[in-house]
Amino acid sequence: MTEQPVNVADFERLASERIDAGALGYFAGGAGDERTLRRNADAYAEWELIPRVLVDVSAVDSSVELFGSGLSMPLAVAPVAFQRLVHGDGEEAMARAAGAAGTAMCLSTIATATPASVEAAAPDTTKWFQLYVFSDRAVTEALLAEAVEAGYEAIFLTVDAPFAGRRERDLRAGFEVDVDAPSVTAAIGSDRPVSIKEVFGLVDASLDWDDLASLVAGCELPVVVKGLIHPADAELAVEAGAAGIVVSNHGGRQLDGVPATIDALPRVADAVGSRAPVLVDGGIRRGTDVLVALALGADAVLAGRPPLWGLAVNGEDGAREVLEILKAEIRLGLALLGCRTPADVTREHVARAIRP
Ligand SMILES: Cc1cc2nc3c(=O)[nH]c(=O)nc-3n(C[C@H](O)[C@H](O)[C@H](O)COP(=O)(O)O)c2cc1C
Repeated sequence: MTEQPVNVADFERLASERIDAGALGYFAGGAGDERTLRRNADAYAEWELIPRVLVDVSAVDSSVELFGSGLSMPLAVAPVAFQRLVHGDGEEAMARAAGAAGTAMCLSTIATATPASVEAAAPDTTKWFQLYVFSDRAVTEALLAEAVEAGYEAIFLTVDAPFAGRRERDLRAGFEVDVDAPSVTAAIGSDRPVSIKEVFGLVDASLDWDDLASLVAGCELPVVVKGLIHPADAELAVEAGAAGIVVSNHGGRQLDGVPATIDALPRVADAVGSRAPVLVDGGIRRGTDVLVALALGADAVLAGRPPLWGLAVNGEDGAREVLEILKAEIRLGLALLGCRTPADVTREHVARAIRP
């Protein structure tokens, strides 16, 4: 590497030089006009941090506890499909990177590695499993059983993707996946290349609140609902027994035109209160973005593309480096904000930026 990347943007630039054009469109892109994709990141700039001074910040502790596990920081790795497309070491390397940085990784249903092989590669990493419920319930149940058996600690049920968003970069490129995803192979009974649309064609679009309640009742792990932005849906999820909420618009890849997640977060956090942890993802590129999210009611955040760029640039080491950079930014940001822990960050620590 000729240039030493020092932040997420540097990794993004280097990754975009390394990833094939078709796959880059898949990973970087969003739905429709990509308004939501852009808003997710841009909306953070509309908040300003308001530090308090003369607070003893000689010992900052950025750790949090989530779903029974201790994490080194309030940021974990979001589920991102098909990671072997950017690096041959795939999800196993991502899981090791997360563990080395002291945080958790959420494995996608449409990963290029099985839950068991990720567990074998990274036994000490806190692992969560992201679930898409396929119409073929036997495939879904087998995957879920494998994740439980392999010691995953929570299930993240993704609810914003009954169908794939219209991702025009993929349409233009005629993008097709050329790596094997074991769950997809099991569901279609073959390992031929598939289109993203075809993958989502496996997802059961009839899933409803009763299915969530059944999943919660039948699953021995905490079930976290990922992919809502309406406070009334957060309320329903908690009532159905969700152990947590992820305010998410799937990184701007599903319904274009929905708000930035940071703008949706405060109302969801108010609706949920202290009944369950509230996470947010989408557009987080800096430790200071994480501080804004904490101030507006999040207990923690997920990052999707940033660690993926790290994986693309330098495998496990690259993903770990991105996570370490974000952790250092969070820790320094906490101290400079006058907060010793993530829990010390309150709404008093942010204000809407006032522009002339
Ligand atoms: C290429 C890509 C693939 C994704 N695959 C999944 C997936 O399989 N399951 C899921 O729940 N979310 C998936 N997501 C959404 C992420 O979990 C997360 O919500 C999003 O990436 C957050 O935005 P960020 O990339 O700006 O951090 C994917 C996102 C990207 C960019």
